[in-house]
Amino acid sequence: LFSAVEMAPRDPILGLNEQYNADTNPNKVNLGVGVYFDDNGKLPLLQCVQAAEKTMMATPSARGYLPIDGIVAYDNAVKALVFGADSDVVKSGRVSTVQAIGGTGGLKIGADFLKKVSPNAKVMISDPSWENHRAIFVNAGFEVESYAYYDAAKRGVNFEGMLASLNAAAAGTIVVLHACCHNPTGYDITDAQWDQVIAVVKAKGLTAFLDMAYQGFGHGIAEDGAVIGKFVAAGLNIFVSTSFSKSFSLYGERVGALSVVASDKEEAARVLSQLKIAIRTNYSNPPIHGGAVVAAVLNNPELRAQWESELAEMRVRIKAMRQKLVDGLKAAGVQQDMGFITSQIGMFSYSGLTKDQMVRLRSEFGVYGTDTGRMCVAALNSKNIDYVCQAIAKVV
Ligand code: LMR
Repeated sequence: LFSAVEMAPRDPILGLNEQYNADTNPNKVNLGVGVYFDDNGKLPLLQCVQAAEKTMMATPSARGYLPIDGIVAYDNAVKALVFGADSDVVKSGRVSTVQAIGGTGGLKIGADFLKKVSPNAKVMISDPSWENHRAIFVNAGFEVESYAYYDAAKRGVNFEGMLASLNAAAAGTIVVLHACCHNPTGYDITDAQWDQVIAVVKAKGLTAFLDMAYQGFGHGIAEDGAVIGKFVAAGLNIFVSTSFSKSFSLYGERVGALSVVASDKEEAARVLSQLKIAIRTNYSNPPIHGGAVVAAVLNNPELRAQWESELAEMRVRIKAMRQKLVDGLKAAGVQQDMGFITSQIGMFSYSGLTKDQMVRLRSEFGVYGTDTGRMCVAALNSKNIDYVCQAIAKVV
């Protein structure tokens, strides 16, 4: 049965973890996967999460099946976070939100549903994009193309190219957009540029699918989420996938969601019924714990405030590490101006290093980033930064 089965390549991101774990270099640093570590190199367990879990432990509950679309209080909390609790779109019942297995699960449920709604549509992802975007939509049966995004020479966004790609797309094309903290480049478009993108999406009849995996890591929770309100205000039917992996440091709990904005309440109910079929046929219904924790935090004003401050702390520390990286690279003798690192936002820096340089960083120094030159600056700290800077200086 399996004699013709080929060995698949390692996952370009998670596969690095396997290599990193097997590396015996005592100085190794994992800048591969997008995970935030604190200044001691530890994965944080947020205080707000611990407080919510303590309360949950005090009143243990049995573990029956959740509804297919997840915990009601969780779905409502996601709606409030993403669209605003008092927003017209939520109050009028136009948003269908389902709990999903991480942001990836939200993308997959949305992709499966879209395949039924628009079976012949093409999907466009940014060039470059998160490595898994293409795979998720290809596996859902779509043909996936790219829209222009990164301009290596300019070290920024090729916005004219992006608009031209979108303008040339056929009506009905599904466009996957990074709501904030573009992964992998770290370059976002401006507010005014979002307005132009939205105008093209509307004029050309495209379907926007916003991936919001890093809300709160750019400029703030509300600031990063503002783009969603712009799409809603334009009267568009949109998809939004949410992830709490990073913002709650709950990576292994796989807590995410998919929200779909319909034209009215009745349409939203029909959409929800189809999302439930996609969930049921993928994994039946979601797990309880992570969603319960996030709901408990978001629905409690005190814990919510604590979450916001813990998230702000992560955001501020990442920004400080960006500056330290720029300074450290200069001090280590890197000639070229690396100041662009501080104009990037979120967890990643697209360093501009070549694949060969990234491979050397791994094999000679145990410094892990993706082959595309992406480094997770959220894993830098005051202890490893000098070593990383020295290592980069030696390969560039
Ligand atoms: C990343 O881009 O590193 C993260 O989103 C983790 C993942 O699943 O790839």
